[in-house]
Amino acid sequence: MLRRKVLASLGAGAATLSAGRSFGQAYPSKSISIIVPFAAGGPTDLMARIFGERMARELGQQFVIDNTTGAAGSIAVGKAARAAPDGYTIQIGHVGTNVANGTLYKNLNYNLLTDLVPIARLPQNPSLVVSSNQVEAKDLKELVAWLKANPDKIPGGTAGIGSASHLAALAFFAATGSSYQLIPYRGTGPAMQDLISNQIQVMVDQSSNSLPQARAGKIKAYAITAKTRSPAAPDIPTATEQGFPMEITIWHGLWAPKGTPPEIIARLNAAAVATVQDPEIRKRLEDLGQDLPTPAEMAPAAFAAFQLEEYARWEKILTAANVKIE
Ligand code: MLT
Repeated sequence: MLRRKVLASLGAGAATLSAGRSFGQAYPSKSISIIVPFAAGGPTDLMARIFGERMARELGQQFVIDNTTGAAGSIAVGKAARAAPDGYTIQIGHVGTNVANGTLYKNLNYNLLTDLVPIARLPQNPSLVVSSNQVEAKDLKELVAWLKANPDKIPGGTAGIGSASHLAALAFFAATGSSYQLIPYRGTGPAMQDLISNQIQVMVDQSSNSLPQARAGKIKAYAITAKTRSPAAPDIPTATEQGFPMEITIWHGLWAPKGTPPEIIARLNAAAVATVQDPEIRKRLEDLGQDLPTPAEMAPAAFAAFQLEEYARWEKILTAANVKIE
């Protein structure tokens, strides 16, 4: 039933296909707004800027970044769901904003799976377990022992309940039996600044945001949450190889309001695929520890099916973990 509804929302624009045809050919005739659910300077903002810049070259119109923060991205997604389905407003998001929040936030005034149309699956990245340089722990074992000796006393950064850095923290707590305070920020961009200045002391954050800071020696990196070490960071061991089995990957995607003509979705998808196929962009994303999807995985229908699977998977995980929004 849900599957039929999701696919229906994909087809909803079909009705406007005829109108879309001329509309599609003239599209875009002005700049496109991309709603970013977190603060500037963080991993999702960076992804939006990299894709916005390159997709603008494909489509001949600028992408304007609209950082709309709060409630772990659920405010921004609501704004996108209410936007005009004309192709001039799209939304970037990830496993937290467009999947986990559906289970965690009981009063969302939109349906994540039917009020937004998938445009393209974007790259995904593991997270790094990081700390400020003032933390003395030399490896993951020592960090976990220190956290266990100070349960819920150490300030750690997240982008709110349901955000990627929160889901990663939950996976870290489950894998290590330790915990830290979950200090909410409007994104891990500002949280990273506070980690660098030791206002907070630990975080499990996407490699695209934490790896450059670790490379610059501004923070310490203890582990990567991937199955195997990243070619972008062969010196950072996995959590699993250090005795704490843990794997979490944060995937991003693009969506448009329900009713956006499929021809326009197809043009936006083609521009996103061209971005991933650009050798310069590929190198830049891979250097940040990102894994790049194939054009087939990026396709709207394939992405919709993937989102549906992830929705069911995280619903089970979060319900079992009894995670509550305070
Ligand atoms: C961001 O861009 O700030 C992150 O994606 C936030 C998060 O941890 O979900």
